[in-house]
Formats: sequence, C-alpha cells, structure tokens
Amino acid sequence: MIKLDSILIVEDDLLALESLEVFLSKISKNVYAANNANDALQLYYEHKPQIIISDINMPSINGIEMSKQIKKDNPDQPIILISANTESEYIIQAVDLNIDAYIIKPILVNKLYDKIVSIYEKIRLKEEIKIQQKIIIQSEKMVSMGEMIGNIAHQWRQPLNALSSLITNLNIKYDSENLDPEFFKVFFTKSDNLIQKMSETIDDFRNFFNPDKAKQEFDLKIFFSDTIDFFINTYRFPNLKINLICDADIKLVSFKNELMQVIINIFKNSYDAYEDNKIDDKRIDVLVSENSDNVLINIIDFAGGIDEEIIKRVFEPYFTTKYKSDGTGIGLYMSKMIIENSMEGNINLVNSENGVVTEIIIPKLKA
Ligand SMILES: Nc1ncnc2c1ncn2[C@@H]1O[C@H](COP(=O)(O)OP(=O)(O)OP(=O)(O)O)[C@@H](O)[C@H]1O
Ligand SMILES: [Mg+2]
Repeated sequence: MIKLDSILIVEDDLLALESLEVFLSKISKNVYAANNANDALQLYYEHKPQIIISDINMPSINGIEMSKQIKKDNPDQPIILISANTESEYIIQAVDLNIDAYIIKPILVNKLYDKIVSIYEKIRLKEEIKIQQKIIIQSEKMVSMGEMIGNIAHQWRQPLNALSSLITNLNIKYDSENLDPEFFKVFFTKSDNLIQKMSETIDDFRNFFNPDKAKQEFDLKIFFSDTIDFFINTYRFPNLKINLICDADIKLVSFKNELMQVIINIFKNSYDAYEDNKIDDKRIDVLVSENSDNVLINIIDFAGGIDEEIIKRVFEPYFTTKYKSDGTGIGLYMSKMIIENSMEGNINLVNSENGVVTEIIIPKLKA
C-alpha cells in the first residue's frame, strides 16, 4: 500500500465524509477533512496537501468553483472530483480545469484507490526529477571545481619548482658560509615575485569561475610586450627569443589575465618542443592584427611541428606526450576553454613547414 503525506477531503455529506476519512487515513499520514469549500480552501492554503478529493455538489461554492480557485494558485495541484451525477457539463468543466480524475458516486474504494495511486506515481516522478536535477547541478559544480584545482595546479608547477631551487641555492650558500646580503636580497625579490604570481593565479581562476567577472579594455601591443617580458623574466629559458609584430592601437575588450595565461601556455609548449627536438636556436614569432570584427593572433614556432595523429588530440584534457618532463596535458585544454567559452573566440593549431602555428581569433566585443 502507498503512503502519502497529506490528503484533503471535501464532502458535505457527513456520513460519506467520515467513512472516506477512515479509508484515507490508511494511505496518508495526514488527512484534512472539510464539509464545505470555504473551510477546505483554508485547509488547502494552510497545509498544501499532496492530493485534494472533493465532491462537486456542495452548498455555496461547489467543487468546480473551488478547484478553479486552487488551480489558479497552483495549476499542478492534483485534484480528484466526485460527483453524484454524470452531467456532461461538469465533466467538460473538469476537463477544462485539468482535473486529474473524476469519480461517479457511489464511491468504490478500490477505484478511488487506483486513481490515488496513479496520481501518487506522478507526484513521485516529479520529485525524483527534481532530485536528479539537483544532483546534476551539484556534479557540474564539482567538475568545475575539479577543473579549477587542476588549472591552479598546472599554473603553479613552474613557480613552485623555481621556488624550490631558489631555496636549495640559499641553503647551499648558507652551508658553505657564502651567504652575502646581495645574494639574499636577490633571493628575497625573486621568491616574493613568484609567490605573488601564484597568488594572482588563484584570483584569476576565482574570477574565471565567477559569472559576474568583468571584461576590460586593453591595448594589445602593450599587453603582448608585457606578457613576453613576463615570460622571459620568469622562466629565463636560455637561447629563447620572442619577436612581436603588432600594429599600434589595436584594442580588445576581454579578459586580460586569462588571455595572458593562454599565451604563456603556448610559449611554454613551443619551448618544450624546441627542447624535445634539441634545437638550440629557439625562436617564437608573435603576429597580431585586426579586421573590423576580430583580433587575429598568430604564434609561430620552428620546433618541428606535431604529428598529424597527435594534432587532432592536443585539446583533449590530460592529453600529453611529455611523460618524462611530467606534462599534465591540461595547458591547451584550458586555453581552449578560455578562448572559446569565455572570450567567444577560436583557437587552432596547424603545422607549418617546420613548426606549429597557433591561430587565435577573438571577436572585438563591446564592453
Ligand atoms: N608547439 C608545439 N610543438 C609540438 N607539439 C606541441 C606544441 N604544442 C602542443 N604540442 C603537443 O600537444 C600536447 C598537449 O599540449 P598541452 O599544453 O595541452 O599539454 P602539455 O604541454 O603536454 O602539458 P601541460 O599541462 O604541462 O601543458 C603536448 O604534449 C605536445 O605533444
Ligand atoms: Mg603545455
């Protein structure tokens, strides 16, 4: 037998009301009973019962009028109407009101029970769907959080390594009693910069997952000069040269810090490719131009390119060929998310004659 939470029964025939109450109390924890529509409406607003069962023929307000009022308040409220006659006019009105079931007196308990069961199943289904939706929303949140943590871990790896070697060097200097104030000062400045950058990474990602984050307008020539300077100064990779060709006065309204992260990921990949292929002369060209709608960025390296089988997969999360150097395979995946989801642009990697060209197109949206 099913168990409902609450039922409201409305019937002006007191004897019938009583016997229905007895029956319904077997299948519902709470049974609210009224012998007229006014009392019933009060009970309805007070308790919001799962199912309402009501007689049609009642003094003053009849069952149809009462149902009209309730359906106006809550169109989904399940209602079963009971009538002594088969007047088609009532039935038509009941259908118009979207009444869930219609029963002709005398009431057969079995029949009533069947109708209640079928409504109960619908209610349960609806509740289940609601729960499922909540679970989906929750798990989407978890995925985003996992991505955020993965991204932070990715961006932190390099500065953490750098910090670690700075500290090791400091320790060596100390042990050999060679620790002079000048060395310490440099140590302090470098560590402080790295820590600040790591802290900014957290803020950037917090912003990235914040739907209210604001775009800002920035000049691309300044942006790329700053990004290249930052990359060269942070990593200090030997034999690396980055050339910038960018027209003056190209402006973009977008997410500056995130774009910087993308560019750094691409530079890093090119540098890795040069290292893998043992090419000493490491050169990256950055070409920036615009047309009426878009900003076009091409980042070009000459490090040997990517196998055709691999190039199809480079944007997959955790796809990496750098098992030895401990790549996570998240760099390009994250870059694609930022460019395509956040900036509504496009990013693509294509092989050129002797290297890779990363093509980025970003629409010049207004702020
Ligand atoms: N410029 C490039 N030249 C050659 N191969 C490249 C280049 N850029 C990307 N790749 C290939 O694409 C793969 C995926 O790059 P992605 O940046 O997503 O991950 P990763 O560099 O391996 O690891 P990490 O998460 O540390 O960035 C690389 O492992 C590499 O094989
Ligand atoms: Mg990478």
